[in-house]
This record gives sequence, structure tokens and C-alpha cells, in this order.
Amino acid sequence: MAEYIDAFATAYDRFWAPYPERMGEAWLRLHAHLAPGAERSLLDVGCGTGIVAARFAAAGYRVVGVDVSAAMIARARERLAGTDAVLLTADATDFEVPRPCAFALSTYDIVNHVGELDRVRAYLRRVHAAVPPGGWFGFDMSTIRGLSADVPPVSREDGTASVVAARGPLDGERRPLHITGELRGDDGRTTPFATTITNTAHRVADVLAALTDAGWVPKHVTAVDDLLTDVPDPEALPRVAVIAHRA
Ligand SMILES: C[S@@+](CC[C@H](N)C(=O)[O-])C[C@H]1O[C@@H](n2cnc3c(N)ncnc32)[C@H](O)[C@@H]1O
Repeated sequence: MAEYIDAFATAYDRFWAPYPERMGEAWLRLHAHLAPGAERSLLDVGCGTGIVAARFAAAGYRVVGVDVSAAMIARARERLAGTDAVLLTADATDFEVPRPCAFALSTYDIVNHVGELDRVRAYLRRVHAAVPPGGWFGFDMSTIRGLSADVPPVSREDGTASVVAARGPLDGERRPLHITGELRGDDGRTTPFATTITNTAHRVADVLAALTDAGWVPKHVTAVDDLLTDVPDPEALPRVAVIAHRA
């Protein structure tokens, strides 16, 4: 289970926002391209602090967000205040939506966060149950290559927080990301925190087969910086985007 504890939720929002901000724009454009005139309703599974969901809400989408971390959902709730977004603290493998959503989206490696392949299958089935026929589903995932790569620790700091994220060794299919940091309060006092987030590596082909088993029709596998162009060898990239249709 990935641990997005309260202090890390604050640090995530501060230091990890550029990727979801960029991808929110890209997926919004893609949905308009795939399904012009479709109902504007979004299911964001693993919605985190609501960065992507808020971009869709600003474009007129009614949002349902799901995330297992109450700390992340609390920040999403603040970000989406004033909209009619429904935000649920629930596991991606076991949730029900209050209304169907024409577009489902999971950004930033939710497939890898969810864990072993049986849990991924349950997650893909849950999303399928939430999207009516004709709807679309997009998500990104780190590939085995991406999760196997040796990357140096990442350090981020501003006046109010600092964080270091360092990958542990690959253990079978699982790769831990050890995060330590501290938050600084207005009174100058610091609160240290530490957490570990575990990602599971999957073959893209296994995820595509699980998608099909769950009732989806996989349509495209692309690079995350070009959601319109299929890539011939997804395993050669560190991260890919997958786009599926519900027939
Ligand atoms: C890297 S963050 C991405 C958040 C958001 N999608 C974004 O792009 O900013 C991963 C998120 O997945 C959530 N998560 C991890 N495991 C989950 C699970 N089993 N069910 C639902 N959410 C999960 C975490 O709590 C965290 O908010």
C-alpha cells in the first residue's frame, strides 16, 4: 500500500505538481479529440490532491475523484471547493461512483501503485463499471524499464518544506521510493516525516490483457508527451499512456 501521509501530501502538492498539471492539459485535449460533444464528466481514480481533476472542473466537467489516502482527498476537497465534485476515500479496487462518468482517468502511475496484477484487474473492472458504453479511459504507467532505472535521489526545498525521494533496490517486481523531509511552520518549528511508496512493475502486455478481460477495448499506447501517436515498442519507454474505449 502506498502511504501518502498528511505531511507528504503537503510536500507532494508543493513539489510534484508540474507533471499532473501538464498531463491535466494533455488529457483534457485528448478527451475533446476522442469524444467531441461527449458529456463532460470525469472519474479520476487515484486523484491525489486534485490537480488534474481541478483542471477538468475548470473546463466544465463534473468530477468524481477516488483516492485511498484521506490526506490527499482532504487537499483535493480544498482545491475543488465550490464545484459539485464528489471525492471519495476508497481503494481503486473497491469503490462505487454516485453517477456514471464519460471519461475515466488515472495519472501518475496508479497502475503501479495499486500493486499486483490481480489488484490491477479488480481496479480495471471497477473503472469499467463506472463508465457507460461509449466512454473512454486513459492512464499512464511506469514500465519495467522505467521502474528498473537507477535514478539519483531527488531533493526539493523551498522556504516551507524540504524533501528527499530515493529509490530503494528493485525487489522482484516491487520498487520502494523512500521519502524523507520536513515541513516548517510559521513559528519556525520543523516537523520531520518519512514514508515509503511502493510501485509494482508490470509488463504493458499484461496490463493490456487485463484491460481486455475487464471489458475494455485497448485503442492506443503512446508516449506521455504525445497522446496522439502510438509507439511501436512501449517497453522501450520509461512511462507510457494507455487509452481504452468502452464499446
Ligand atoms: C503519484 S500520486 C498521483 C496523484 C494524482 N493522480 C496526480 O496526478 O497528481 C498517486 C496517488 O495514488 C493514490 N493511491 C495509491 N494507491 C491507491 C489505491 N490502491 N487506490 C486508490 N488510490 C491509490 C495515492 O494516495 C496518491 O494520491
